[in-house]
Amino acid sequence: MCGIVGAVAQRDVVEILVEGLRRLEYRGYDSAGVAVVDADKNMTRVRRLGKVQELADAVAQQDVLGGTGIAHTRWATHGEPSEINAHPHVSGDITVVHNGIIENHEPLRELLQQRGYVFESQTDTEVIAHLVEWERRTSDTLVEALHKTAAQLEGAYGTVIVDRKDPERLVVARSGSPIVIGLGIGENFLASDQLALLSVTRKFMYLEEGDVAEITRRDVSIIDANGDAVEREVIESNAEHDAGDKGQYRHFMQKEIFEQPTALKSTMEGRITKDSVIIESIGVNALEILSKVEHVQIIACGTSYNSGMAARYWFEGLAGVSCDVEIASEFRYRKFVTRPNSLLITLSQSGETADTLAALRLAKEKGYMAAMTICNVSGSSLVRESDFAFMTRAGTEIGVASTKAFTTQLAAMLMLVTAIGKQNKQIDAEKEKEIVQAIHALPVQIEAALAYDKEIEALAVDFADKQHTLFLGRGEYYPIAMEAALKLKEISYIHAEAYAAGELKHGPLALIDADMPVVVVAPNNDLLEKLKSNVEEVRARGGLLYVFADEKAGFEAVEGMKIVSLPHVNEIVAPIFYTVPMQLLSYHIALIKGTDVDQPRNLAKAVTVE
Ligand code: AGP
Ligand code: GLU
Repeated sequence: MCGIVGAVAQRDVVEILVEGLRRLEYRGYDSAGVAVVDADKNMTRVRRLGKVQELADAVAQQDVLGGTGIAHTRWATHGEPSEINAHPHVSGDITVVHNGIIENHEPLRELLQQRGYVFESQTDTEVIAHLVEWERRTSDTLVEALHKTAAQLEGAYGTVIVDRKDPERLVVARSGSPIVIGLGIGENFLASDQLALLSVTRKFMYLEEGDVAEITRRDVSIIDANGDAVEREVIESNAEHDAGDKGQYRHFMQKEIFEQPTALKSTMEGRITKDSVIIESIGVNALEILSKVEHVQIIACGTSYNSGMAARYWFEGLAGVSCDVEIASEFRYRKFVTRPNSLLITLSQSGETADTLAALRLAKEKGYMAAMTICNVSGSSLVRESDFAFMTRAGTEIGVASTKAFTTQLAAMLMLVTAIGKQNKQIDAEKEKEIVQAIHALPVQIEAALAYDKEIEALAVDFADKQHTLFLGRGEYYPIAMEAALKLKEISYIHAEAYAAGELKHGPLALIDADMPVVVVAPNNDLLEKLKSNVEEVRARGGLLYVFADEKAGFEAVEGMKIVSLPHVNEIVAPIFYTVPMQLLSYHIALIKGTDVDQPRNLAKAVTVE
């Protein structure tokens, strides 16, 4: 969760650290802090509850200067959000920031108290500070002290340490939380996401699990989990420097909704010709692997899970391959049977979701044919640990509520399904052409959906004073309704529920009254007549309906029913198309409610803890 930034330079690094934290704000946090050490070995620490801006204001009012420093945005797991619990934490000359959870913090706390350490905070993190302080006494170097400390820690962490008496270096350990090192000229940096450092460098090196590194102005030395000195590959980033700017938009979420036509174009670039899928573009050995696939197991969380649920209809309906989709936090803790020739697919925007990553690691031991990830962040843990990765290329997604990552995941999976179906002869050249042409048409059609912004904004007013909303869909539109409900919950705090419309009469119909708006996703497909009956069931009970319908679906606005009439799009890609008006609806409802759209309460962008 949250974020870490660190720097060792000759110049004053405070501004770089605070700017880095700003760029990590999207990850979600409740407090922020910074500590710097100057050449005279003075350490200054400033921490604030609330926004990074509060920290920036506090820093501006004091004389905070130093060439070596660490900074942190905290998403509390142990101990309430407060200034005392905010990082960095200090023990003697040692200052520490930490992402993640130290699971054995209780016995360590007791041990350290017996040794005479007095705890200032309720965090699990503080044990790291005292342990390093203790181990430093009998170690030749700070990095040795960190090694000894890491050997005693259980759980997931990324942690960075500065020793006030030795301000030339930062030492860092990665075990479960991502850390990237940014290489400058005569200065070096680190962060939990390269985005934080794009204003100072483009050259990055990702630490691997179990790595401990020492970073000085001129050098980076890394020791791996086996205790061997290693070099990690240097990657030149081409991420947009302005990815962290909102531009003309009011919120990142809004920007990202409107970026979907471009994002989709880049997802399909080089992967489809005019009328066919380029199978080799899916990944190394894709041709060989995909021709053997008999089953697909998708693992993901949240929005990514919803996209997997929608894609299941394509895997089975178009490619004739059986497909199971499961929430990562469930999959990883149950006994499961691996089917023969089963392809494991993890879906993730961030590539760092702890549950998804743990599920991947577990599955790799359980005999899957191959592990593939469909992911938006290159260099992320899922990408590095999977056999092959199909990048969604949506561009950096900053809004906590995922939008363009979802639609690009769907487009990526549709291309994958087509490739599999082509290999197993379920999809002939004509069908392939139809699918590919429908994918090509998507960016323009999504533009058309975005043009409904004003109409949807007007509808949003009806929802802003409601406590509950129901979303209905059938077939592949049921997962689209699930995603719509998740969006609304996340950013407007309105309780929203999705139901497969045919299931309504088995219970939720009891909830229907004029206080619970019912949103219906109604494309013109085989299930239309059945869906219409479900709509009537709601109307007959005095429910208020908002139907997002294909213009040819034959819905008419009557009392208790408002219609958003959308242009007809090819049935295969329609789930992607219908997602967009749902995103706009949630966005406008949240806007009226005045919630924090980009950083909704209690949520974090990259969920790197269990
Ligand atoms: C999306 O709007 C949510 N914030 C959340 O459900 C998210 O999709 C989930 O945490 C999975 O993240 P990932 O795609 O980065 O793995
Ligand atoms: N577990 C630590 C705490 O609660 C770190 C949380 C985080 O990753 O921000 O302070």
